[in-house]
Amino acid sequence: MKVIQVGIGGMGSTWLRAVQRSPYVHFAGFVEINDEIARAQAEAYNLDPSLIFQSLPEALENVETDAVINVTPPEAHREICIRALETGLPVLTEKPLAGNLAEARAIVDAAKATGMLCSVAQNYRYRPLTQTIKAILDSGELGALAAARAEFFRGPHFGGFREQMAHPLIVDMSIHHFDLMRFFFGSDAVSISARSWNPPWSWFDGDASAAAMIKFANGVEASYTGSWCSQAFETSWNADWRFECERGVILVEDDRVYIQQLESVDEGARGQSSIHDERREIPLIGMERESQDYLLQKFYEAVTQGKAVSTTAQDNIHTMAFVFGVVEACDSGGTVNL
Ligand SMILES: NC(=O)c1ccc[n+]([C@@H]2O[C@H](COP(=O)([O-])OP(=O)(O)OC[C@H]3O[C@@H](n4cnc5c(N)ncnc54)[C@H](O)[C@@H]3O)[C@@H](O)[C@H]2O)c1
Repeated sequence: MKVIQVGIGGMGSTWLRAVQRSPYVHFAGFVEINDEIARAQAEAYNLDPSLIFQSLPEALENVETDAVINVTPPEAHREICIRALETGLPVLTEKPLAGNLAEARAIVDAAKATGMLCSVAQNYRYRPLTQTIKAILDSGELGALAAARAEFFRGPHFGGFREQMAHPLIVDMSIHHFDLMRFFFGSDAVSISARSWNPPWSWFDGDASAAAMIKFANGVEASYTGSWCSQAFETSWNADWRFECERGVILVEDDRVYIQQLESVDEGARGQSSIHDERREIPLIGMERESQDYLLQKFYEAVTQGKAVSTTAQDNIHTMAFVFGVVEACDSGGTVNL
């Protein structure tokens, strides 16, 4: 399968490597609006400079492709995705699906109208850590899930578009954790209250910290706290998690998964007390391919063999509604019902 990659700077490098590693996917060409980045990346990744174009329409006029991979900043996603879909090409696009909900809906409408696949890179779902958590929850060994919390604290200095966004943490980062909640719980957010703020030392223009309470359609209650301006004790990019289940707890710390199970409830002189087994570390599930490699392979199988993909734009619109529901709750100070 041949692809055009649009946007080859920043995260573009990860996709260049994923395609170069794949035995099934090859580059037809590239699009990059920044000449300096185009030159540097052509050298770093041994790309043919004559195949790097200034716009997607120019690339489409000059090379034949089966699909498009979009790794541009969010505000460019609508134009690129819709152009590809309307040309009859499937798209694998980076998250967030678009810069706002209206633009994301326009992409979903284009995917429906053209019948073309638009797959969204929610790569955090396809990691050994998150697959392990999902497997424990789905096994039922800890009984029903009532509540969960996620905590995310890092202090990255990216420069670029994130430092100008109104809600950089929520829209560009927490989107992964919110999408993971949908994945873990198998349900969508229905009610959200949230606050966001910008620490006095923040290097972001918009709010780099937030806290949210989210109720899901299946009754699960989740809490989330996060910051992109934390100066120490950073968590993993995957966040730390705690899942409160009927017969035990799943604890996720520093990308390690632990469970502790309730063994029995004993009657004692002072009333009932719970007896637990020892805290056990659960080995992570092995994966043949993970993250971008996994998504690329699934995209390839969908395009060439018609196999189903779970991270479609049609599904991802629920993650986008969740993310922008949190933004609305922060901006309004009220509760948002979806
Ligand atoms: N899934 C993840 O874990 C993950 C991680 C980082 C970034 N991302 C996402 O990837 C996307 C890109 O982020 P980034 O960090 O690489 O940004 P970036 O600004 O570092 O790189 C974007 C590149 O796209 C180019 N570009 C911009 N508009 C273009 C256009 N219209 N046509 C062609 N090229 C264009 C820029 O010149 C730049 O080289 C964002 O949506 C971001 O949220 C995802």
